[in-house]
Amino acid sequence: MSKQFDVVVIGGGPGGYIAAIRAAQLGFQVACIDEWKNEKGGPAPGGTCTNVGCIPSKALLQSSEHFEHATHHFADHGISTGTVKMDVAKMVARKDAVVKQNNDGILYLFKKNKVSFFHGRGSFVKAVDGGYELKVAGAAEETLVGKQVIVATGSNARALPGVPFDEVNVLSNDGALRIGAVPKKLGVIGSGVIGLEMGSVWRRLGADVTVLEGLPTFLGAADEQIAKEAKKAFDKQGLKIELGVKVGDIKVGKKGVNVAYTNAKGEAQELAVDKLIVSIGRVPNTIGLNAEAVGLQLDERGAIVVDGDCKTNLPGVWAVGDVVRGPMLAHKAEEEGVAVAERMAGQHGHVNFATIPWVIYTSPEIAWVGRTEQQLKADGVKYKAGTFPFLANGRARALGDTTGMVKFLADATTDEILGVHIVGPMASELIAEAVVAMEFKASAEDIARICHAHPSLSEATKEAALAVDKRTLNF
Ligand code: FAD
Ligand code: NAI
Repeated sequence: MSKQFDVVVIGGGPGGYIAAIRAAQLGFQVACIDEWKNEKGGPAPGGTCTNVGCIPSKALLQSSEHFEHATHHFADHGISTGTVKMDVAKMVARKDAVVKQNNDGILYLFKKNKVSFFHGRGSFVKAVDGGYELKVAGAAEETLVGKQVIVATGSNARALPGVPFDEVNVLSNDGALRIGAVPKKLGVIGSGVIGLEMGSVWRRLGADVTVLEGLPTFLGAADEQIAKEAKKAFDKQGLKIELGVKVGDIKVGKKGVNVAYTNAKGEAQELAVDKLIVSIGRVPNTIGLNAEAVGLQLDERGAIVVDGDCKTNLPGVWAVGDVVRGPMLAHKAEEEGVAVAERMAGQHGHVNFATIPWVIYTSPEIAWVGRTEQQLKADGVKYKAGTFPFLANGRARALGDTTGMVKFLADATTDEILGVHIVGPMASELIAEAVVAMEFKASAEDIARICHAHPSLSEATKEAALAVDKRTLNF
């Protein structure tokens, strides 16, 4: 006997579980199927983000930052610590506990919102009268029928051709988050978001980290000035980043990994490391979904084809998050999940791609929203720029972290904010003000005229807005 639902969500990551909760709030009978297992084989909803992404990476970034503060910065505050030791096993266990809190939190939210949870792999069987039949295989063996279906099956790490992840020597994000001891030498392929965050964790704990990046420019998606400032800081920390390399043969042996590559000058090089993280992007995941059974259309990258409203080519089937076009970010997946649930209820779901913030949780943190200076130039937009360095911010001095700046880009005629770019302390939190401002179509002057608490890092945001009009007060 099949179980009937108004909405069945396949995938319990940030896209799927949030869509399920919002749909239930709107009065639908909702089921969510997720196959992620914890180490005991039990359910672990939350997807990549909760299990091997956003949450565990931030837990390790925090632990390693505490270690770096204790070993390098406490002395500046007059604190002597003696020998500081790192218990990697304990750090990893703490990270696992943080992950479990989040898994359990989602199961609690499902109960609270009356979402039926099924632990197993969900796949399409066939279209039926008024909906779709789906099979759940795993701990729960069920047949479900959903009048509407939301696919939120996420993404997987992309491997280098011919170099599969063994998670012992060649690590994806999964293995990179559970290295058992600090490697002496760590190699990272790709200086994108994962490469920088994971490279930072293990460098802070004492690994000699080399990052090999294929492109000649560092962090091409970020504003050039901000990327330059960040690169300077990483160089100073000893995170070695080689740009413009071409990775060749990779040999995996008992003792580690040997990477042959050509550097930017075209010279043949070799890098011998204990462990190698490969972080060269992610691919949409539709493995086991049986998309063919119903004719669900995928593009050449394997992503599910959707329109601007996240509708697929099939009536009543929607897709959100990493498995569709757009940035692979948890908050983008969540926004799409909410919007789809609201559209199913006849409301006007809203996702503004122009105000999705990006954050890289390194030290200094890097965060931005809107367009970069190079994008504005390419688009032929006339703009004004204003920057303010944390060096001139009282709170940053008191914190002992004055790296970086806030940068505003505003329309030359209307003063509307077109982009805000931050490199420095707590950029992840500071960017929220810029997102609100842009969502409300604020001008730089609006921010410049708003009272900001003193002393606070957010005063640097106000000062950068003032700088657009060349009238900073503290610099
Ligand atoms: P996922 O989170 O991948 O969830 C998909 C879920 O569907 C999984 O649980 C999977 O098991 C399940 N599933 C797949 N197929 C089936 C099936 N057939 N049946 C049942 N279940 C299925 N983003 C940020 O915004 N901020 C960050 O700080 C951040 N840090 C990251 C750090 C790392 C190391 C990584 C790898 C990613 C990070 N991301 C971050 C990206 C973020 O994790 C993803 O954008 C986000 O998880 C996408 O959500 P999703 O719901 O689309 O997919
Ligand atoms: P990425 O797209 O951020 O970076 C991949 C990097 O690898 C790029 O710089 C690319 O030029 C380089 N590269 C690709 N192929 C290469 C090759 N053969 N040799 C050398 N370099 C190569 O991908 P990453 O870091 O794997 O992360 C995947 C996604 O996960 C991110 O794009 C982001 O959407 C998400 N994420 C978000 C985080 C956040 O929001 N803080 C943190 C971590 C991941």
